[in-house]
Amino acid sequence: MNIQRVGVLGSGIMGSGLAEVAARAGYDVVVRSRSQAGADAVYTGLDAGLVKQVAREKLTDEERQAILGRITVTDDISELALADLVIESVVENLAVKKALFAQLDEIVRPEAILATNTSTLPVVDLAMATKRPELVCGIHFFNPAPMMKLVEIIRPITAADETIAVATAFAASCGKDAVEVKDRAGFIVNALLFPYLNNAVRMWEQGTASMADIDTAMQGGCNFPMGPFALLDLVGLDTSLSILDALYQEFRDANYAAVPTIRRMVAAGQLGRKAKQGFYTY
Ligand SMILES: NC(=O)c1ccc[n+]([C@@H]2O[C@H](COP(=O)([O-])OP(=O)(O)OC[C@H]3O[C@@H](n4cnc5c(N)ncnc54)[C@H](O)[C@@H]3O)[C@@H](O)[C@H]2O)c1
Repeated sequence: MNIQRVGVLGSGIMGSGLAEVAARAGYDVVVRSRSQAGADAVYTGLDAGLVKQVAREKLTDEERQAILGRITVTDDISELALADLVIESVVENLAVKKALFAQLDEIVRPEAILATNTSTLPVVDLAMATKRPELVCGIHFFNPAPMMKLVEIIRPITAADETIAVATAFAASCGKDAVEVKDRAGFIVNALLFPYLNNAVRMWEQGTASMADIDTAMQGGCNFPMGPFALLDLVGLDTSLSILDALYQEFRDANYAAVPTIRRMVAAGQLGRKAKQGFYTY
């Protein structure tokens, strides 16, 4: 299968990052947001990011224009009809994603691959919401998508080998290193990462050290690019809570049981960088 047109469903942090990655790789991209204002904000945000890269001489102005020229934004889901590959990247909520997969299945041409960027949810449930389960898989990018090299390709038990091969080739064409993983909550990275993040907040709750010192310790002591609190703020506390809940639901391991602070911060709207307030203020 030859991928030329990529649809992106969702216009949050990851949706806009995915759109940039695919457009940079030469694909025509349609991003669908629920509102025209959301769609326009993706376009403006992407342009602002590319302008900064031109200023830093990482990109020429011609390249910027070419990348933007390959991106269209819309609030109309039917504009994804002609996509060869759709990557869903909306809120980490199984019911919302299942409903969207059922809707996409009716709209997008039957040979197209429908992929999800979910961090933890069972991909098989999304596959079974469609009449083409063999064409459904996970293509899990990392945040920020244009910078992070890794993509996890998630193989639900329903996926055809060809689907996994096409998804892997797509990731490679975007300049990413792909790893294949079974459809288990958290896949590789989040299954290993989130107990660490959760236990960092627990350590702070117990008064073992300050937030800033825990971040400094994990940067300097493990050579991590940022500490756990800065990373939780980057990922988003709501997304992090959904990931922990999905991991706990699947494995019933206490390390995955979200500590109270994270749940209370989400209730208070302190979602991290995107809300300008999380563990730190932005
Ligand atoms: N944030 C990360 O670090 C990260 C990394 C990799 C994968 N992901 C995954 O990417 C997906 C999106 O995460 P994000 O960080 O971009 O979140 P976000 O909060 O930035 O964006 C969520 C998007 O979902 C849309 N949305 C919310 N409710 C909806 C509904 N009922 N119907 C349709 N759209 C709806 C919002 O309008 C928004 O465009 C999630 O599945 C998440 O697990 C996130």
